[in-house]
Amino acid sequence: MAWYREWFGEEYLDLYSHRNSEEAEEHVRFLLERLAPAEPRAVLDLACGAGRHTAALRHLEYRAVGIDLSLTLLSRGRPMPAASGDMRCLPFLHGTFDWVLNFFTSFGYFENEQENFRVLEEIFRVLAPGGSFLIDLFNIDHVLTHLEPRETLERDGRRAEIHRWYDERTRRLNKRIELVGADGTPKAFLESVRAYRRDEVVCGLQWAGLEVTETYGGFDGRSFDFDSPRLILVGRHPG
Ligand SMILES: C[S@@+](CC[C@H](N)C(=O)[O-])C[C@H]1O[C@@H](n2cnc3c(N)ncnc32)[C@H](O)[C@@H]1O
Repeated sequence: MAWYREWFGEEYLDLYSHRNSEEAEEHVRFLLERLAPAEPRAVLDLACGAGRHTAALRHLEYRAVGIDLSLTLLSRGRPMPAASGDMRCLPFLHGTFDWVLNFFTSFGYFENEQENFRVLEEIFRVLAPGGSFLIDLFNIDHVLTHLEPRETLERDGRRAEIHRWYDERTRRLNKRIELVGADGTPKAFLESVRAYRRDEVVCGLQWAGLEVTETYGGFDGRSFDFDSPRLILVGRHPG
């Protein structure tokens, strides 16, 4: 089974419990300073997980909906509009959304470029002409400079052994996570993300018909460079 169908369950939520609503609110503030519209708009939180960004946007009266593949994560969020679905084939009509947002490294999951770039085509398709998008990825140069191959994490009294490695051939950043699962049994999960560099993502977005207007290196608004922690691309559907 594909790693992303297994990993995004209860154990993921426990291990990433620090990726919480406060952080999502900070991301939304960043977004509003850059994409601020006159009126609340239709927003898609693409790969929304438990919906922390959807909730932050809805709190501000944006008509935000989420979509995610994980029923476990969808069911763990606050009650709000969300769909279960695959980002390669979105169940929405052309031009439905004014913004499409893809937070916290939710791109590059599939085996080949075609499938990953299919997601960019879907973003283009569901965006209204003139609409905006944001994609928030890790910066692989930062990750490789600071890579901790082995780490033991303790969260809420639970322990996880993490093994990280970069595969130069596939250009994927891999993580093996060993922990005692939510049901009390030892479990191992894989996370494997294609590490796209800025020019590759910009190229993919242009190929899909989208225009990148800015890139940032973090949600504090810093500019993107070799050692910035994030690669955040903001842009628009040219209309
Ligand atoms: C790293 S999490 C980020 C979740 C959320 N954006 C956040 O910031 O909390 C990645 C999300 O992508 C979802 N996902 C994985 N594969 C997917 C697919 N093929 N289609 C839609 N969502 C997918 C996972 O279920 C998970 O919720």
